[in-house]
Amino acid sequence: MIEQESLMLKRSISKNPNKKLNLLVVGGGYVGLTMAVCFADIGCNVVCVDKQKAKINSLSKGKVTIFEKDLDRLLVKNLKSKRLQFKLLANSGDIENSDIIMIAVGTPFDDKLDGYNQRDIYSVAKEIARFINKYTVIVIKSTVEVGTCDKVEQIIKETNPKADIEVVSIPEFLREGSGVYDFFNPERIIVGTGSQRAKEIIKELHKPLQKKKLVYTTRRSSEIIKCASNAFLATKVHFINEMADFCEEVGGNVYEVAYGMGLDKRIGREFLKPGPGYGGGCFPKDAKALASLGKRVGANFNLIECVICANGNRIKGFGQKILRCVKNIKKPKVAFLGLAFKSGTDDCRCSPAVDIVLGLINKGLKVCVYDPAAMKNAKTILKSRVFYAKDEYEAAKGADIIVIGTEWKQFKSLDWQKMGRFVRNKFIFDMRNIVDKQETLKHGFECYKIGC
Ligand code: UGA
Repeated sequence: MIEQESLMLKRSISKNPNKKLNLLVVGGGYVGLTMAVCFADIGCNVVCVDKQKAKINSLSKGKVTIFEKDLDRLLVKNLKSKRLQFKLLANSGDIENSDIIMIAVGTPFDDKLDGYNQRDIYSVAKEIARFINKYTVIVIKSTVEVGTCDKVEQIIKETNPKADIEVVSIPEFLREGSGVYDFFNPERIIVGTGSQRAKEIIKELHKPLQKKKLVYTTRRSSEIIKCASNAFLATKVHFINEMADFCEEVGGNVYEVAYGMGLDKRIGREFLKPGPGYGGGCFPKDAKALASLGKRVGANFNLIECVICANGNRIKGFGQKILRCVKNIKKPKVAFLGLAFKSGTDDCRCSPAVDIVLGLINKGLKVCVYDPAAMKNAKTILKSRVFYAKDEYEAAKGADIIVIGTEWKQFKSLDWQKMGRFVRNKFIFDMRNIVDKQETLKHGFECYKIGC
């Protein structure tokens, strides 16, 4: 599928090469790195800077620092072509040469500020301002509070009154784990600017990707679209999660319900998969930031506030359900399979699985964990409070309950006969509904699934 897509894209690039734009990407995280590699792949000259030395060393050698499908191959390819470079600091020449400077630094939620911490965005704005000596488009890619583009423009103009710039909001909608695919197959590219000159450059930048139209909005609308989209999707996920609970109580099957509902185009079939609650580096943060900004400006988001609270309770509730399953067992041991917030990524930020593991160890349970990609990131949170297994079967040794925390494909095809030989009690708690219940029953397991 990806190969077919990239073949089509190659044909489109050869017909529509962009004018070798020089692009400086500031920030080499999930967003910045994917953008840097993919824009190099469609013909831009890209310099990507990040303040972490180890990251820059690794990327310069062609070793990816995040788990992202197809990124490793494209990184090596574009380093070889010399269209892509990684640096610890942008030198004045890199800034002067850039047609576009893309800011993609992290904006973590800050409890004290009750919103995004945008310190890094503003310091980047200040740093680059001094060296801008020709018309440059500054693109804000990080997810930000409404009005940030205005503030960045003000900082640059104050630092360098002669700077000929335009600050444009182009939020990213890449899903972790499918970031490369999403880059080459965008459903929409929202461009927040009122400037015709900036529009021309942004159009040029995206020329090979223009299967779908660019959508122009004001800067503030563009900033809102990003948070509103994530908050809406989080609401949709929470809706189906509550529906799953209802189905369990009244004897329905949430998959049949979601399928039937989703056939209505106005509802759509995506994002109606029940689970332990939404997580990750984006939904929880963006929903919270939107709700708190709404409160500050006197436009309350009652619905989003309810969703945030109910999603948190849901995650806690799943921990309690697991505890109830093992309440009659002396010194129960849990085999926890999957720690990433979803499959296809090594990201454990706000992962429901990790939160549930923390809840279980706080109650004194012994937990042995395994994840095919996220062990390293999980260790930074769980430290030495759990046992780390080398695979699913080792995790199952002596376990009284097997919990499926992330929907990794390999957990779908576990050998339940083999698992049965390792466990002490045959109970499965499938929070992701990926296990074949009939198959587990054949081998004497009892299996709890969500909403059916
Ligand atoms: C999300 C958005 O989907 C992207 O469009 C956006 O660019 C990105 O945030 C961002 O702001 O950077 P991502 O965080 O990678 O992408 O994760 P999703 O695939 O959207 O999943 C979010 C959460 O919802 C996960 O915990 C996932 O398990 C859960 N989910 C999703 C469900 O429980 N059910 C579903 O049907 C879909």
